[in-house]
Amino acid sequence: TAGRHLALRGRILSFEADPAREGRGALRYHSDGLILIRDGIIRAVGPAAELSSLLDPETPVRNHHPHLILPGFIDPHLHLPQTQVIASYGAELLEWLQKYTFPEESRYGNPRIASDASRWLLDTLAMNGTTTAAVYCTSHPVSLDAFMGESERRGYRMIAGKVMMDRGAPQALLDTPQRAYDETREAIARWHGKGRLEVAITPRFAPTSTEAQLEAAGSLAADYPGLPIQTHLSENQAEIAYVAELFPWSADYTAVYERYGLVRERALFGHCIHLSERERGALAEAKATAVFCPTSNLFLGSGLFDRAGLRKAGIPIGIASDIGGGTSYSMLTTAAEGYKVLALRGERLPALEAFHMMTRGNAEAMGLGAVIGQIAEGFEADITVLDSRATGPLCRRMDRAETLEEELFALMMLGDERSTVATYVAGRAIYLRPETERIGTG
Ligand code: GUN
Ligand code: ZN
Repeated sequence: TAGRHLALRGRILSFEADPAREGRGALRYHSDGLILIRDGIIRAVGPAAELSSLLDPETPVRNHHPHLILPGFIDPHLHLPQTQVIASYGAELLEWLQKYTFPEESRYGNPRIASDASRWLLDTLAMNGTTTAAVYCTSHPVSLDAFMGESERRGYRMIAGKVMMDRGAPQALLDTPQRAYDETREAIARWHGKGRLEVAITPRFAPTSTEAQLEAAGSLAADYPGLPIQTHLSENQAEIAYVAELFPWSADYTAVYERYGLVRERALFGHCIHLSERERGALAEAKATAVFCPTSNLFLGSGLFDRAGLRKAGIPIGIASDIGGGTSYSMLTTAAEGYKVLALRGERLPALEAFHMMTRGNAEAMGLGAVIGQIAEGFEADITVLDSRATGPLCRRMDRAETLEEELFALMMLGDERSTVATYVAGRAIYLRPETERIGTG
């Protein structure tokens, strides 16, 4: 079985710590490195000259020189049912949901539609080097079954949830507090801990859940204290005003989720653009995560994420595509747009910090920092291999790049799925660029 033993050779790049804190000392780089993989786990990493002696002659070696070998990218916020909503014209969030998103999501009660979308999405993530994601399905349990089934079959580590929503949308998308509770529990029993899958408690956002449903979400959170939670928070001004109208008793938007016990570690809050000081303090204290979705925030005109402010408050931060409010499946493009959002705020996003965010940073933000996000002994062998000269503009630019930082910065600004040479999930190649050299030994 091809997946059991494998060695990869090339330029290996991984982070052992956060370069925003530790600078270049956080980086583990081998210009000619070797990774030994057995049974889906990384067993050793180091300079090829040192590790070659450990290599048993039967182990197949794929030589990826001159390409970069990185931990698989992690996307902590995207929507399975929005692959045909992406690039819908001319609306801000609330109108976009009503006009495009809810009608489209209504189709996902059909298992055929949900499994076609799941296959297409997983193929596309692989092609983009993304090996783990936190995914919203729809309110239909079959949509989660389809996505989880397909993810398990392919060996992915995935977090996904059945969306809970009981108001403010077409009838075909609405559940009830009790149904959402029961269906989430059934989903946990069926999928949580199967293979590498985890189920997330997924109330869509405060405007589409009644107080009774948020209470049900809170009960689930209390029943399952280690489970991920995912929802949206403070994306645009009209949404915030609507939340104030629907929950007149609440001091602010975040306090709605706090009231129901949904602000805690492993709670992933999409967007978090317009948070007050009080809200920042509440997220930081609970160790909840803010997820930056730059292409979505620009596309929907939602606002400019305050990375410096949230970091200063001590909030863990992830970076995500938010397909299909977001416009790119590529984490490289997502980071490039993140760079531009921050530029508009007079802030900077150094390349090392961006690559850390897409890998170890997102893993940490999702509570998965001990198993994925690094190329290091004992970590799961989820790996992406990138060609920093995949296109004419990249080649032209790389001719004048002198440092690793320059190379990574240009790769992030100009790269996309055309740079993906190979993607491995649990040590198994799930994507190989057509011209990738076949496996050999030595
Ligand atoms: N808020 C509630 N639902 C959604 C969604 O599907 N996309 C985005 N961007 N924001 C939301
Ligand atoms: Zn979203």
